[in-house]
Amino acid sequence: MAIQTVGVVGCGLMGSGIAQIAAEAGCAVIVREVNDALLAKGKGKIEAFLKKAVEKGKATADQMATTLSRFTWTTNLADLAKCDLVVEAIVENMGAKQELWKFLDGVCPAHTIFSSNTSSLSIGDMAACTKRPDRFVGLHFFNPVPIMTLVEVVRTISTSDATYQAACEFGKRVGKTVVTAKDTPGFVVNLLLVPYLLDAIRAFEKGVASAADIDNGMKLGCGHPMGPLTLLDFVGLDTTLYIADIMDHEFKDVRYAAPPLLRRMVAAGMHGKKSGKGFYDYSVTPPVQAIRP
Ligand SMILES: NC(=O)c1ccc[n+]([C@@H]2O[C@H](COP(=O)([O-])OP(=O)(O)OC[C@H]3O[C@@H](n4cnc5c(N)ncnc54)[C@H](O)[C@@H]3O)[C@@H](O)[C@H]2O)c1
Repeated sequence: MAIQTVGVVGCGLMGSGIAQIAAEAGCAVIVREVNDALLAKGKGKIEAFLKKAVEKGKATADQMATTLSRFTWTTNLADLAKCDLVVEAIVENMGAKQELWKFLDGVCPAHTIFSSNTSSLSIGDMAACTKRPDRFVGLHFFNPVPIMTLVEVVRTISTSDATYQAACEFGKRVGKTVVTAKDTPGFVVNLLLVPYLLDAIRAFEKGVASAADIDNGMKLGCGHPMGPLTLLDFVGLDTTLYIADIMDHEFKDVRYAAPPLLRRMVAAGMHGKKSGKGFYDYSVTPPVQAIRP
């Protein structure tokens, strides 16, 4: 069955991008946030992104208007009952996600496919709290979603072939290259990336080098487009801490243990670019190092 209506739950960093690419691919998109202020903030993010594309000549004003006309904005979860596919991009917390899925399982029709954009939580554990584990799959996009061309499609031991195929087709339809991963913490990319990011924090914490020198070292020395501390600010330090703790719990491997500095920064509200401050202070241009190790 072709996916026509997509529900996106959570319109933060990831949800706003996922909602945008689904609308650009021609889907009707229903976006749900917890309150009107956050809904307006998410809508503003999408509008700003589309406006920039028009200013750069990558899209026309008509295309932008068509994309925006495909959205329905709501704070009412029950409005997602019309969806063929739901993509969840809420906070990285299993309790919150399971509560959401239990509710949606009760209101969505049998054919609706459920998918989570989680970076580290078990898709199988979410599927298990619904009556449709065969129609449950991981769709793990990358930040910024409209620009990054990868999606990891995560198959649990219960995901049916039809659901897996539909998820792959959706990934391709929104312009992504699909890689398939097992339902194991970190899938492919974060399994390898998270220890590297944590090592960069440990290097900064030990005073090996300044934030700019650690970033420039990896950019110029390894050809990475972005240094690890800048990447952490983009991903979100709170999200990274959640992921590291989950992987640490699952693998019991010191490579995934969060450095104390990461915990202190998250506790201090330094969540990276989205909060204005992380390893860098984004209130000035160009951003400057925000903290001493
Ligand atoms: N940040 C990244 O680079 C990245 C990359 C891939 C996947 N992810 C995953 O995507 C998910 C979201 O991450 P993010 O970085 O977008 O977080 P975020 O904090 O930017 O956004 C989460 C949004 O979800 C909203 N929300 C919370 N509970 C909700 C509910 N019940 N219904 C509707 N909205 C709700 C919050 O208000 C917030 O706006 C997480 O599972 C994360 O692991 C993040």
